Amino acid sequence: MTRAPLICPSILASDFAKLGSEVAAIEAAGADWVHVDVMDGHFVPNITIGPDVVKALRKHTSLPFDVHLMVAPVDPWLEAYREAGADILTVHPESGPHLHRTLGRIRQLGAKAGVVFNPGTPLGLLEDVIDLVDLVLIMSVNPGFGGQAFIDASYRKIERARALLDAAGSKAHLQVDGGVTSANAAACVSAGADALVAGTAVFRGGPDAYAANIAALKAV
Ligand code: DX5
Ligand code: ZN
Repeated sequence: MTRAPLICPSILASDFAKLGSEVAAIEAAGADWVHVDVMDGHFVPNITIGPDVVKALRKHTSLPFDVHLMVAPVDPWLEAYREAGADILTVHPESGPHLHRTLGRIRQLGAKAGVVFNPGTPLGLLEDVIDLVDLVLIMSVNPGFGGQAFIDASYRKIERARALLDAAGSKAHLQVDGGVTSANAAACVSAGADALVAGTAVFRGGPDAYAANIAALKAV
């Protein structure tokens, strides 16, 4: 029996003029985590959410903040996002010279540590940091923008990550991010994912649609 995945709406697709009510609305609609896409205009070609915005949002929901850092160098920003209220900090191996140290630092700050693999990033290095991670994120698009199409080769990568985690006896979450919809959510879960990020698929239709959109993603 497959268990319903955790749904992590990416607020990148929300109405930025109403962020407080948007996070409250997804909580009421059944979201599990709030996925916060942090982009610096350097590591990825877009600029989004600074720590002060995360801090301001913290009082609008009690859901965990799952902060996906697309920032390089990433190390100088860990503490600020943790202090702003991040529960999970997820980093790209390309965003600093010492991934092992960065992941250790995140746990030292009291947050859960995540590592994220772009479509072109080899999964092999997961083996070297597997004991340091609470979450593995497989990107199913190239990071930088919402609303892109899911890359089908990601299923195989999810399966490979699941096999590595199981072989190591790791309880880390396996999350997928990019182009996730109700049409491919079940296949992601079958491949081994237990957490799905979705921007467009959650926020389309406005607040009245959020509960149905989230339910459709959970219905695997
Ligand atoms: C891409 C971000 C994703 C993205 C998801 O860089 O990491 O979280 O916003 O948006 P959708 O679900 O619209 O692809
Ligand atoms: Zn993301």
